[in-house]
This record gives sequence, C-alpha cells and structure tokens, in this order.
Amino acid sequence: MTLDLPDLAAMDAFGARIAARLRPGDVVALSGGLGAGKTTLARGIIAALGHRGEVPSPTFTIVEAYAPPAVRMPLVHADFYRLERAEEAAELGLDDYREGAALIAEWPERVGGFAEEPGCLAVRLEIAGKGRRAIVEPGAGWQGRWP
Ligand SMILES: Nc1ncnc2c1ncn2[C@@H]1O[C@H](COP(=O)(O)OP(=O)(O)OP(=O)(O)O)[C@@H](O)[C@H]1O
Ligand SMILES: [Mg+2]
Repeated sequence: MTLDLPDLAAMDAFGARIAARLRPGDVVALSGGLGAGKTTLARGIIAALGHRGEVPSPTFTIVEAYAPPAVRMPLVHADFYRLERAEEAAELGLDDYREGAALIAEWPERVGGFAEEPGCLAVRLEIAGKGRRAIVEPGAGWQGRWP
C-alpha cells in the first residue's frame, strides 16, 4: 500500500495513524535513504503516543527509551545506522529494551531487518517532489489493524 505524504502535516497524521494501532511487541521498521523522513515520522508516532517536548534523534545514542505515563506504552526509538554488525544490537541490550515495549527502528536493514516478526509494520519512505511517499507492508500481526 502506497501513501502520499506531501508535507509535514501529512507526516504527522500518518504517525498518529500508526500510533493509534500500535501495540507492545510491534516493530515499526522505517527504511529509506538519508533525509527520507524516518526521524520525522518517528517523532510523529512518539508525539501521538503522548510524549510532549523534544524527541532527540538517536543517531548517536542509538537507542532512546520512553516510559509511561508520559507515553501510552513503553517505547524504544532506535537508529541502527552506525552499527556495523547485526550482533551489535544484541550487545546494546536491545532485547531487554524491547521487553513489553514497541520498537520504532530506523535503518532496520543494518541489523538484519524485522520482516520475520509478525508484529512488523514495514514503512519505506521515498522522496517525491517536495514531499514524501510511503510504501507500507504490514506483517501478519497487523491483520485487521492495517489499513
Ligand atoms: N512528508 C514530508 N514532506 C516534506 N518534507 C519532509 C517530510 N518528511 C520529512 N521532511 C523533511 O525532510 C528532512 C529530513 O527528514 P528526517 O531527518 O526525518 O530524515 P531521516 O530519514 O531521518 O534522515 P537520516 O537518515 O539522515 O537520519 C527534514 O528537514 C524534514 O523536515
Ligand atoms: Mg534520522
């Protein structure tokens, strides 16, 4: 399924739509090149889950965690761009962070991707003129939730 995201307002609305359907254990896998809008969409999801204030990009920290009551469910926002080996995700303690939490993953292919998980909502962002386009592929666990 392809979605047109002509501006930042459309991106926020898309983030809110994902947030409304998100459950603990899910992964939102955000792929797309540099500047495609992955962090922007992640911020839209995190804001719609209740977070107020800044959402730092996890470019350098790799992992940022959010906990209730500030957000509706435990949340992990990760950016795997800087990882060189898939095993580094485990070394960071990703499994522990993910316990009972939803994961928003930028550059998921750096750690082997999450396509084998039924709770994976794969979102590929592409630049389209001044805006963006999203190609959304829901895993089996999203049946009845997406679209
Ligand atoms: N739907 C949209 N329409 C227009 N501009 C957008 C849209 N989504 C994001 N942008 C803009 O694109 C720029 C890059 O966005 P962002 O930082 O989210 O990309 P990214 O995919 O996280 O990049 P990187 O891989 O370098 O971290 C930002 O200036 C953002 O405001
Ligand atoms: Mg980014």
